Amino acid sequence: MATAAVDEVFAHRLERVTDFAFDEAVAGVFDDMVSRSVPMYGEIQRMLAELAAGFATEGSNIYDLGCSTGTTLALLHQELPVRANLIGIDNSAEMLDECRSKLATRNLTGMVDLRLADLDDDIAIENASVVLLVLTLMFVRPLHRERLMRQIHAGMNENGCLLVVEKVLGDGSLFNRLFIERYYAYKRRRGYTELEIAQKREALENVLVPYRLRENRELFLNAGFREVEVFFKWYNFAGFVAVK
Ligand SMILES: C[S@@+](CC[C@H](N)C(=O)[O-])C[C@H]1O[C@@H](n2cnc3c(N)ncnc32)[C@H](O)[C@@H]1O
Repeated sequence: MATAAVDEVFAHRLERVTDFAFDEAVAGVFDDMVSRSVPMYGEIQRMLAELAAGFATEGSNIYDLGCSTGTTLALLHQELPVRANLIGIDNSAEMLDECRSKLATRNLTGMVDLRLADLDDDIAIENASVVLLVLTLMFVRPLHRERLMRQIHAGMNENGCLLVVEKVLGDGSLFNRLFIERYYAYKRRRGYTELEIAQKREALENVLVPYRLRENRELFLNAGFREVEVFFKWYNFAGFVAVK
């Protein structure tokens, strides 16, 4: 299926809204979905590649955990000033199929090592100068996040960097509500109907578990990262850079 297809996953009233899954229906429209659902998605991707380029080292590994259709991996391949090994990990075979197709259309077949693996289980990270978790940590079960962070930290080289983009909660209910209202207004501007917004929110309820900004920061510091900074913030979205 072409990745340029329009996202209509929640456009029609569903008899029963089931938990959101990165299945074939979502994978086929994912690029449209993510670019209309994440404010400044293109600029975030550009910033990630720019930041990664500053930390990538010759011969090291660069991991994109939750790589989806490979947008970040393709950009990294283009922007990195050194020869590093690009590794994409995802637990959705359908997303990895889309990723393979996209890489093929850009003549990047064989340039990226794609692995089907679950971040809720142990994962092998080694010799890493850069690890990315873009809109993915929020899908990892909270119970497993500390262990995942410790494994990432252990597999990274000194001065390596972790780049994380997440949906975040506000500290209190006042701004939380305000920011989420602004976010739904953004989705309406991007052409999503009230029905689509409501059904997707319901589908994500048990699946996407956002932390507060400071809870994410503490998660990274507790795993051993020595410095953590916010490089992007838009209402309920935040980007973090953490250095080992
Ligand atoms: C919102 S998408 C990430 C978007 C992508 N990183 C980007 O920049 O466009 C979340 C991805 O994480 C993957 N994912 C969710 N839970 C996962 C898990 N436990 N292990 C591995 N991948 C997971 C999904 O299959 C999906 O491709």
